[in-house]
Order: sequence, then structure tokens, then C-alpha cells
Amino acid sequence: MLQVTNLTKFFPVAAKTPRWMPGGKQTQYLHAVDGLDLTIQPGESVGLVGESGCGKSTLIRLISRLLEPTAGAILFDGVDIGQIPVGDFSHSAQRAKLQMVFQDPSDSLNPRFTAFDTITEPIRRLGSKQDQRRLQQRATELAQQVGLPPELLSRFPHQLSGGQKARVGIARAIALNPTMLILDEPTSALDVSVQAVILHLLADLRKQMNISYLFISHDLNVVRLLCDRILVMYLGKLVETGPTDDIFNHPRHPYTQALISAIPAFEANPHRIPLTGEPRSPINPSPNICRLYGRCPKGDDGCQQAAPNLQPINDYHQVACHYPAYPQ
Ligand SMILES: Nc1ncnc2c1ncn2[C@@H]1O[C@H](COP(=O)(O)OP(=O)(O)OP(=O)(O)O)[C@@H](O)[C@H]1O
Ligand SMILES: [Mg+2]
Repeated sequence: MLQVTNLTKFFPVAAKTPRWMPGGKQTQYLHAVDGLDLTIQPGESVGLVGESGCGKSTLIRLISRLLEPTAGAILFDGVDIGQIPVGDFSHSAQRAKLQMVFQDPSDSLNPRFTAFDTITEPIRRLGSKQDQRRLQQRATELAQQVGLPPELLSRFPHQLSGGQKARVGIARAIALNPTMLILDEPTSALDVSVQAVILHLLADLRKQMNISYLFISHDLNVVRLLCDRILVMYLGKLVETGPTDDIFNHPRHPYTQALISAIPAFEANPHRIPLTGEPRSPINPSPNICRLYGRCPKGDDGCQQAAPNLQPINDYHQVACHYPAYPQ
């Protein structure tokens, strides 16, 4: 369904050294996404986790063609969508099949659009002639599918609750029967009870419509509930990927271990693995030093001489570490 190869995004940053000093002309680059490979199968739900600033949103903005990559290929449904100019992508057939749900529904909904306008906007732009002729009926069907009372379709975003706005965002995303949804923290702006309802809605929709999900969340429990497989990202690179149960029960990378051990439990977690120190700078990072070096409890000289690549541990699980943990 989706195959991403060597996807890279560097953002130029103003050099600290003035131009007149030796080396002052070199532009520095922030390596937001650095040579990333990933594959998502039809109907598969994949979670993407990692600390703030590691490049998750940049990655999905690249995949959804909101950003031009520095390098790499994005194959969706057999078409290299990385080659479609950003301006043309919004009118392409692939755009209809690849939809996004954003973090804060208040930000992503147009304040001048009613719920009806928002939900039917993709149909008016990319829908079939038949759907365009029966917009009212399609909007009602979609509202029912996401649990939004159809009487609310004439309301503007400021007249809707957070949960209702989230439902409008989801209805818009599924309006064209997509094969893939990219969700960037879709429930983080909601309170816990509404969050649970929306997550169950997303899980049900996935079953009904057989959609693939690429799901970003800071909440590992949410990822655990919704995803078949997990990708762990650290400073622009994937450090571990594997089936959800494997990652939770036997995390192999020190960063994943720290992440999982930090999940709040009812009792204080006795096995919490602290990560000390500051993260390394994402600006012009050395290609030879592991990105976790300096914070990693296992780091030694070898980790400063050769950065580890993602290696298979078994048929399903890959890890980028010179000293991966082995299950006891
Ligand atoms: N348009 C931009 N121009 C320059 N730098 C950017 C831009 N967008 C993102 N960055 C940088 O790229 C890095 C990755 O940012 P990104 O927003 O992808 O992180 P994230 O993993 O989504 O974080 P969060 O979990 O906080 O949403 C950050 O260091 C950020 O400062
Ligand atoms: Mg983000």
C-alpha cells in the first residue's frame, strides 16, 4: 500500500559562524527525517511513536505531500507520489485514497464552513459525479457513520464540542472511501472519556472499511489499543519496529525500553529506566555516532565510531542498536 524509501528532509538553519570567518559560508541543516524506510500493508494499522521533535509530523507531511522531500521515494498504490508536484497532488486520484486527520480539530476545521461544508468539501473537489449530485444524502450517511447527529450538519465549528469537531474531521477524512488514513495525534486535544469514544470509533471504521492507518500518538496505551505494528523514531531515524505485542513485551532498543518503562502505571513503576542528559543536536549530526549516544545507559566507544543501522532480529522485528536487549 505504502512504501517509503530513504525518505529525507533537511531544513536549512542560519549558520552560527559569520560568513567572513573560515567555514562561515557552510549552511547547516537540521536533519528532521533522515533516510527513513517503511512499508505499510493494506488494512494494516501502524503506530509511530517518539519524543517531541523527533520528526513524526515532518514524516507525515512528507507522505501527504504537504512538504517537498530533500531525497527519497514515496510509493502509494504503486504510484511514486513523490514525483507529483505538491500543487497537483491535491487534485490527484491518489489524494482521494490518502486522507489525513489532524491533531486539533479546532485548528484544522475552517471556521467559516459548516459541518456539512467541511464533510462534503473533498467530495465536491474529488468525488464521483454521482456523489456530487447527492451531497445532502452522502453528508447524512457520513455523519451517521461517525456518530454525529445529522441535525448538527448546519453548525459552524464554534457551535460544536471538541468531540463533535473530531467526528466532523473523521467524516471528512472518510468521505471518499480512502484506503489509507494518516492520523497525527487525533485525540490529544480531547478529554479522556471522549478520547476513548473516538478511539473506538476509529477502530470500528478500520474494521468496516479495511483502511490502513499510520497513527501518531504520544500515548503508548492508545497505540497499543489501535495498532498492529509500531515504529519507534528517535532524532529523525527509526530505531525499532515490530509487532505491537513484541514491542511492549520485549522492547530491544534502550530508547524503546525507556519509553515503555515510563508508561504511567497505577503503582510507581519499579523498573523505570531513566534517560539522563540532553538529546544530541539534530543540526548536522555526525553520521558515525549513534543518535542516542550520551543518553543511553549502554553507550560505549563503539557507539561513537559507527552508528547502528536497522537490523532484523527476527522475521518481524528490527532494531538499530549495537547492544539490543534479548528477552529473558
Ligand atoms: N518548517 C520547518 N522549518 C524548519 N524546521 C522545522 C520545520 N518543521 C519542523 N522542523 C524541525 O524538525 C524537527 C522535527 O519536527 P516535527 O514537528 O516533525 O516533530 P514531532 O516529532 O512531530 O514533534 P511533536 O511530537 O512535538 O509534534 C524539529 O526539530 C523541528 O524544529
Ligand atoms: Mg508533531
